Amino acid sequence: FSDFLTDNYSRQHDYLRISVTERCNLRCTYCMPEEGVPLSPPSHLLTSPEISYLSALFVSQGVTKIRLTGGEPTIRKDIVPLMHSIGALRRQGLRELCLTTNGIALHRKLDSMADAGLTGVNLSLDTLDPFQFQIMTRRKGFEAVKKSIDRILEMNKLGAGIKLKINCVVMRGLNEREILPFVEMGREQDIEVRFIEYMPFDGNKWSQGKMLSYKEMLAMIREKYPTLCKVQDHKNDTSKTFAVPGFVGRIGFITSMTHNFCGSCNRLRITSDGNLKVCLFGNSEVSLRDLLRKDNDMQPIDEEAMEAMKKVEMDRRQALPGCAGTLGFSERERDLLEVIG
Ligand code: GTP
Ligand code: 5AD
Ligand code: SF4
Repeated sequence: FSDFLTDNYSRQHDYLRISVTERCNLRCTYCMPEEGVPLSPPSHLLTSPEISYLSALFVSQGVTKIRLTGGEPTIRKDIVPLMHSIGALRRQGLRELCLTTNGIALHRKLDSMADAGLTGVNLSLDTLDPFQFQIMTRRKGFEAVKKSIDRILEMNKLGAGIKLKINCVVMRGLNEREILPFVEMGREQDIEVRFIEYMPFDGNKWSQGKMLSYKEMLAMIREKYPTLCKVQDHKNDTSKTFAVPGFVGRIGFITSMTHNFCGSCNRLRITSDGNLKVCLFGNSEVSLRDLLRKDNDMQPIDEEAMEAMKKVEMDRRQALPGCAGTLGFSERERDLLEVIG
């Protein structure tokens, strides 16, 4: 394993998350305002050859898992050829090629993504009620998401082997009554439903009262399913995994607000405009895009990338002791987190 990817805490960064677009076709109220997020000029965004090059570089150094995220990755026009090119890195040591998606446009592209080597889908779905879906995402589309889920399960019956997880952000007064129906999904289907503690982002009107903690959710589930038991988490998982005996699927909790999981964090990230970051909390980013485009052409940047890693690693070390282990908070929100404990 290359030193390049190992930090002072002996964490081996073998999991790379690449954001392939800032755009999204939903407007989930906890994530984005109605008008969307400010977009970078297209020339600032990584091209597919650049993303493929960087994927190959990191795989050559020991990365074994790549997750494409967004915004919403499926709306990138050339997402399928891009996945083909990344999927070909299987021969160089890539073991998992995953997608985090809202599932709206996924069903149309799933078959070709599976051909490209897709091994896992984390699908965001917060409600099983089409009307509530429209309230939480400010868009219609529940049926399309359902179609994507059904298609994955159907493909898996034929041996596609796509690991399906559902990410469900739980908000009091909106969807907490749906926790039990989501648990039921795992009775006969091989799905891991992960309940996520609602987190504050700039302007998402977060309040402690709207957040359900992992413990509270667990108690609600235990009341109906007293046999619920803890199962072994995979190394580096951000979630705590449980099972209802007799159910095919699993239940998970992403405890971003109440327990930190930095100690086992193995992620690297590349933003859609080409910045390398290790820690979501970190402020230090290095532009791999600028290195690649230095002489108006795609340069080999092995050594420069190593330097970049060292620089961002420093940042993680500083961030680690106080890190709540979750997506980027503002200073004010971090203070708030300390109050919550
Ligand atoms: P897998 O472990 O590969 O299934 O993916 P994931 O859970 O990391 O990714 P996903 O995109 O499904 O993100 C789900 C949740 O995990 C997010 O809402 C975050 O709360 C949390 N998360 C994602 N990436 C990071 C990260 O780099 N660090 C930490 N601490 N949390 C993260
Ligand atoms: N709180 C909790 N989870 C969030 N996500 C996006 N915004 C928030 C938030 N404010 C989740 C999405 C997606 C995952 C990558 O992050 O639902 O599943
Ligand atoms: Fe944000 Fe994902 Fe919802 Fe899009 S689908 S608005 S990126 S949480």
